Amino acid sequence: MSQWQPDSWRSKPIQQQPTYQDQQHLKQVEETLQSYPPLVFAEETRQLQRQLGDVAEGKGFLLQGGDCAESFDEFNAPKIRDTFKVILQMAIVLTFAGKCPVTKVARMAGQYAKPRSSDLETINGVSLPSYRGDIINSFEFTNAARQPDPNRMLEAYHRGASTLNLLRAFAQGGLADLHQVNRWNMTFLENNPLRERYQDVANRLQETLEFMDVIGINHGNNATLHETHLFTSHEALLLNYEQALTRIDTLTGKPYNCSAHMVWIGERTRQLDHAHVEFFKGIHNPIGVKIGPTMDEDELIRLTDALNPDNLAGRLTFITRMGADNLEKNLPRLLRRIKSEGRKVVWSSDPMHGNTIKASSGYKTRNFDDILREIQQFFAAHHAEGTHAGGVHLEMTGQHVTECTGGAYQISDDDLAQAYKTQCDPRLNADQVLEMAFLVADHLKAGK
Ligand code: PEP
Ligand code: CO
Repeated sequence: MSQWQPDSWRSKPIQQQPTYQDQQHLKQVEETLQSYPPLVFAEETRQLQRQLGDVAEGKGFLLQGGDCAESFDEFNAPKIRDTFKVILQMAIVLTFAGKCPVTKVARMAGQYAKPRSSDLETINGVSLPSYRGDIINSFEFTNAARQPDPNRMLEAYHRGASTLNLLRAFAQGGLADLHQVNRWNMTFLENNPLRERYQDVANRLQETLEFMDVIGINHGNNATLHETHLFTSHEALLLNYEQALTRIDTLTGKPYNCSAHMVWIGERTRQLDHAHVEFFKGIHNPIGVKIGPTMDEDELIRLTDALNPDNLAGRLTFITRMGADNLEKNLPRLLRRIKSEGRKVVWSSDPMHGNTIKASSGYKTRNFDDILREIQQFFAAHHAEGTHAGGVHLEMTGQHVTECTGGAYQISDDDLAQAYKTQCDPRLNADQVLEMAFLVADHLKAGK
């Protein structure tokens, strides 16, 4: 461990990386990034780790969500605002209806690199390098656009910085004011079948706030009423970028990845002796690892020991993505083993990535009922094993997209074409997310 350096990963095998043609250019960009200010401050990541420590001990819930892949093209204030609002709305439902403190972590301000199942994409007999996320290449299907370009890392940094700036402003500048909750009703709620339930939560919250005001707890003396903390996260896949943003914290002298508060390792790059695990060993942020159905118990313990040798609560989050049909068989054995060996982890459910299918219309989609079924089974498995169902990890947007089928509006395969905007995986839209929030809140309350 004393040997660890931000670049130790470079001597390990690595997967899912672009091949940059011009190594000199790559090096220049890395040096430039290294000279830029960090995007987050180490103390903020410790604050997140403390909150996640409570979650690991059963005293809170982690809500993590955002785009599968952020896009350079769809980089604008309304989009950031709508996702911010929908995360907050969901958090209010979970806190108030589920009676549980919620830690909010956005997949935003850096979620730009994507693992792919194939290095090449073939359309009408033409094969080109796969799209790997806007930090690497462009989605457009031309040879030039698909070449990895190091300048995109600088572009990702600047877009991440502006996104984070706006999120910080929203979180502290009034958009998170609990008194405004009724005004958050975005237009989509007008015809929403869940409008009454949301309105009921909002009304009860309003009454509670009025009561608190009467007894002297208000805006003026209590920041939590009008401010919130929204942390950022992404899959730290492109290690050139992550290394360049890794800094020694002046307060503790320890290395932190200052590209986001929390970063995670994807399902395809979590091999114990490979580069990503090596890099994550040395950074002191709270971290996540995606866990699919093939994970075995011994390997999970080895991974836990490698990434959290001091068994710190809040350091390590396992984001399970089993698939609704596989969860019952594969999650309980992992929960049992981690519990019996006394390891402190947050268990969070990603009900999206194990439930992706191809619709008859040709679109990649996910069905609301499969997503919900995985979440229900996740809660049931934790209940049976006496462990804490600690969070959800969703691909979602505040926009009116039609990418996942089902939900109260019953989006069908034929509807997908109406507003299918994702550059990668299908996301729950604002209605579907809110519906999901009520269903999860019911589980949270039932678990009390
Ligand atoms: C993702 O979260 O977008 C992703 C690629 O997930 P996984 O690593 O679980 O497949
Ligand atoms: Co995805």
